[in-house]
Amino acid sequence: MNKVKNGKYPVVVITGAAGYIGSNAVVKMVMETDAQVIAVDRRKMKWKSPKKTGKKVVKYQLDICEPELSKVFRIHDVDAIIHFAGDISVPESVSDPMKYYNNNVLGTMNLLDQCRQHKVCNFIFSSSAAVYGEPTKSTANEDDVLLPINPYGESKLMVEQILRACSHAHPSFKHCSLRYFNVVGNDLLQRVYDPYWKEKSNLFPALMRAYLGYTPDIRLFGTKYKTSDGTCVRDYIHVGDLIDAHILALSTMLAKQPMRNVYNVGNGKGYTVKEVIESFERVVGPIPVVEAPRRAGDPEKLIACPKRIKRDLKFKPNFKHIDDMVRTYAKMICVEPVPGAGGLWKEKK
Ligand SMILES: NC(=O)c1ccc[n+]([C@@H]2O[C@H](COP(=O)([O-])OP(=O)(O)OC[C@H]3O[C@@H](n4cnc5c(N)ncnc54)[C@H](O)[C@@H]3O)[C@@H](O)[C@H]2O)c1
Repeated sequence: MNKVKNGKYPVVVITGAAGYIGSNAVVKMVMETDAQVIAVDRRKMKWKSPKKTGKKVVKYQLDICEPELSKVFRIHDVDAIIHFAGDISVPESVSDPMKYYNNNVLGTMNLLDQCRQHKVCNFIFSSSAAVYGEPTKSTANEDDVLLPINPYGESKLMVEQILRACSHAHPSFKHCSLRYFNVVGNDLLQRVYDPYWKEKSNLFPALMRAYLGYTPDIRLFGTKYKTSDGTCVRDYIHVGDLIDAHILALSTMLAKQPMRNVYNVGNGKGYTVKEVIESFERVVGPIPVVEAPRRAGDPEKLIACPKRIKRDLKFKPNFKHIDDMVRTYAKMICVEPVPGAGGLWKEKK
């Protein structure tokens, strides 16, 4: 990453740094770039600063919706923000929409207010494929009409619009919204552990809970979608590849090179929920499955058109096959049995 001013490397605030993606981002940014990382989350950040680099990550346990956020900006000469903090459950957003508008939209506005006051002009935002709603084409393209079908997706779209208006009003303010598809897997070197995986509603943690017996089974929500096997289709992107996309976007922005304000981050390939379950069964072991009615707010198919980010930022995902993504995720939670010797994946103690 280029030096920014006075010969110093960029100071980057990562919000949501206790979370699954945020903690992967902290580790990769510290190990693989020269940025100085400031980590912010309202939950306790249970990871340790990666030792090998000798760099210390400064941690702030605070809520970005609260006035105490200003302390981060008063103490540090911040150059850029990577904003992961937010509530993330689609079903919860349907039952408790205000929670999503308050935290995801107002929290971001509080953060943007600090950026304005402290002249922080580089902002990377975790947007989501949920902004597309039900795409009418086989893959979702950045320029498609955006019609989110749940409050989570609406909250992400609102923030994208706010960022666009800020850049329009203040051209020195640069932003990039990365629309992630389904983020899965874990750091290849297993430097990261998501301590909150047992609470997540996403498919991968739910499958691991069912495999290990924390839940009696996995619920297959909806089996009559118009897809090859009746279950929803999603595009899965490995978390390590996703963080590489952030590093590329931030480096391009700090180098003041031309870039767009919105990029999809996906593989451009869809897997049905049943195919993901089959992959877990191939890699890890048997999982009890129970069919359940479809959930409100779940679109049938969401697959990225990834051409723009590949062309502009030269983004090349390393992980393409679902089995490889499953293996890195299972290894975060379990010890892999010796290949060829049989045996089961057992939870790490
Ligand atoms: N996981 C995915 O597949 C996926 C897909 C698309 C977009 N995203 C986006 O990526 C981001 C990170 O997702 P994740 O999967 O790591 O979720 P996560 O729940 O593991 O992490 C989110 C973190 O944000 C923190 N946070 C929430 N509100 C906060 C606040 N007001 N102040 C301070 N910290 C706050 C939480 O404590 C948590 O640690 C989210 O914005 C999410 O919407 C995730």
